[in-house]
Parts: sequence; structure tokens; C-alpha cells
Amino acid sequence: MTERITDRVNGERMAADLAALAEMTRREQPGYTRLAYSEEDRQARVWLREKMAAAGLTVRLDAAANVIGRRAGESEASVLVVGSHIDTVPNGGRFDGIAGVVAGLEIARVLHEAGRRLRHPLEVIAFTNEEPNAFGISTVGSRAMAGKLTAARARELRDPGGRTLAEAVDFLGGDAVRLGEARRSRGAIAHYLELHIEQGPVLDRERIPVGVVTGIAAPTRLRVRVEGRPDHAGTTPMGMRKDALAGAAEIVLALERIATDVGDSVGTAGRLVNQPNHANVVPGHVEMMVEFRSIFPERIAAVRARLLEAMQEIARRRGLEISWEFMMEERPLQIPPETVELAAAVCEELEIAFRKLPSGASHDANHIAEIAPVGMLFAPSVGGRSHCPEEFTDTADIAAGTRALLGLLLRLDARP
Ligand code: HGY
Ligand code: MN
Ligand code: MN
Repeated sequence: MTERITDRVNGERMAADLAALAEMTRREQPGYTRLAYSEEDRQARVWLREKMAAAGLTVRLDAAANVIGRRAGESEASVLVVGSHIDTVPNGGRFDGIAGVVAGLEIARVLHEAGRRLRHPLEVIAFTNEEPNAFGISTVGSRAMAGKLTAARARELRDPGGRTLAEAVDFLGGDAVRLGEARRSRGAIAHYLELHIEQGPVLDRERIPVGVVTGIAAPTRLRVRVEGRPDHAGTTPMGMRKDALAGAAEIVLALERIATDVGDSVGTAGRLVNQPNHANVVPGHVEMMVEFRSIFPERIAAVRARLLEAMQEIARRRGLEISWEFMMEERPLQIPPETVELAAAVCEELEIAFRKLPSGASHDANHIAEIAPVGMLFAPSVGGRSHCPEEFTDTADIAAGTRALLGLLLRLDARP
């Protein structure tokens, strides 16, 4: 049987890359921590640029500090892109995003070793800062590439230490003053593909190595401030309190009830700061980050309406000042059925078991979908766990997903 180029995907080599990247994290804490704009992030990017160059790619950073490795095509037509991210959440895993960048690197190596020139140029991209950060927004590199992040906005957004997002992008080697130049016009990217771990239980439970993604949920994320009145915890009668934390707790439970009620939705209050946060003081001020998601826009709208109503009712009843600022209102997306069917056909041709499923997590693909057609494949997450030290995906599954990704890339490349 003639060897297929997809058979050249080398799982051991990818395992070595994943292990090397896992070392470039803050290992003094549980799990794997490589926050965007950290020394670990900068170190991992240097490593990645060297690996990209060794894979025959021409490497550059764009103004948003996206790491871009390019392989020339037979023509200088619109580019095929394979991407994801290498930054993590705190105490997270070593596969979220990283598996997709390593898959892109492996595809570049396979093409380089085979001397295979595609019709289209190929770019492997590690997008800057996909995860939430202290600036209040996420997916910074893909957002900039989609033309949704201006230099002015990057100068406005500050972390609690006063550093601007623009300074953070420059720290990684970007050029935030020219952020607008990271934008790709519609048509510049022929197709964007991303391999990602599922971060949910379906593929692992069904023992299926590849997921063909049919739709991608998107977060609406808001910063909520609850102003109460700090008082003495011993002398203030219960009926006279303006307890900001009790009010915030009601908001958290209301979000949980509403998201469950609306269905096909999730709601989370993942970050909360309580002040003065002292045992004998009635909490006076709470700031929290709240988000909700669905792959269905109408469910997102329903959760949003009911949550705002609930916060206004809690404020009135408890005599609190509750305010909110929408930090992100991302649009969920349906993957074009013809891309889904093409990916399914490639898996069948390569005799790789697969199933179709939606993504509850959001990805860089959400933004790139606004300027190019996108396709996503999943690899199983053991126990459905992610964003935690227990996150694990078997290299054999990542290699299977990479073979399917390369097969899909070749089919898309064959198109005019
Ligand atoms: O939050 C997400 O969905 C992604 O993991 N950043
Ligand atoms: Mn993540
Ligand atoms: Mn991710």
C-alpha cells in the first residue's frame, strides 16, 4: 500500500514537544501555569520560534505578537492557517491550546521532510494570550487578527498593577502602536484549522479519538461591582446591613439557576474579590467576573436578560449598588456543514474513528471565523477534565487528530 503522507505524523516527536513546553511553566504551584505575558510565556515562544525554524518555516511576530511560521506555497494565494495558543490558565493543564500548536508544528515538519510544497502558503500560528487575563479580555492575538482590537483600546486596558495591555504585547515582541497591522482582510486566509482538546467528557466516554466540531460556544463576560456598606460584624443588626458579599452570593446562585433553567447554557462566577475581606467586618465591596455561554444566540440573550433583572431585584431588596460592565460579548458560531462533512470524509478515508460534537469552550477560531472559514477537530480529554492539573490527553489521540488535520488541510489545499 502506498505510504500516505499523513502516516508520517510522529507521535513520539509530538510527545517530546509537549513535555518540553510543560517544563516552561511555574512548576512550584500545582498544575501547569504559563500566563500570557509572563517570563514563561516569553521563554516558550523563543523555544517555539526555534522549532518552527527547524521545521523549515520562516518565522515572524506580527504587531499583536502572534508567533507566525510560514511555509511558501506553489502560489502566493490566500494562506492556509493552522493555529492555537500556548498560554494557560493558572494551575491549569499542559494540553489546552498547546496540543494544537504542536500539531501545526508537526504538520510543518512532515511537509518539510517530505519536500511537499502545498498550492497555498501555510502558516502555523501560536496566537497571543487566548486565556482570560488581568486586563479583562482574552483571545488577544486572534481578536487583533480579526480587526477587533485597536491600539487605543490596548493602551486603555490596564491590569491591577497599572500595566497596559499595549505594554504587555510589546513585552512579548509585538508592536502595539501598530496593532491595526495585525489585521487580516477577509479573503487573505483561505481556511483556518485548529486541533484542540475537547475539555469535556464525550470523546473520552465513547472512546473515540477524534471529534469533528459542529459549533463553538462563546462567552459573554461582565465585571460586576456590588457596593454595600462595611460595618462592625458584632454590633450591626441583621436588618440594618448592606452586606455586599451576601448580595454577590445571591447573584452567583441566581446565575446558576438561570443558566440551568434556560438550558443548553452555562453560567459561572469564577473570580471574586471581597473587601475589606476581614473576619469581623460586614463586606462593603465585591468585584467579580461573571460569564455565561451557549452555542445558541437566543439562549445567551435569555440568560443575559434574566441575570440583569435578578441583579436589579437583589440591589433593590438589599439596598445595594450593583453595577456591571460588559467586557466581552462574543458570538457563537456554527461550523459550515460542508467543512464538517469534509472533515468526516477525511476521518473515514484515514480510517480514524470520529464523532461530531459542539464545543462548550470558546477558541481563537471564534474570532478568525469573522474573516475566514474555520474548521476544528478535538482530541479526547481524559475524564473530561481541563483547566486543572488533571488535564490529560493521550499522545496517540493527539497524533490521530494531527493526521486528520493534515488530511483535511491537503483536501482544502487541493481546492482552487
Ligand atoms: O474559556 C475558554 O473557553 C477557553 O478555554 N479559553
Ligand atoms: Mn482554556
Ligand atoms: Mn484553549
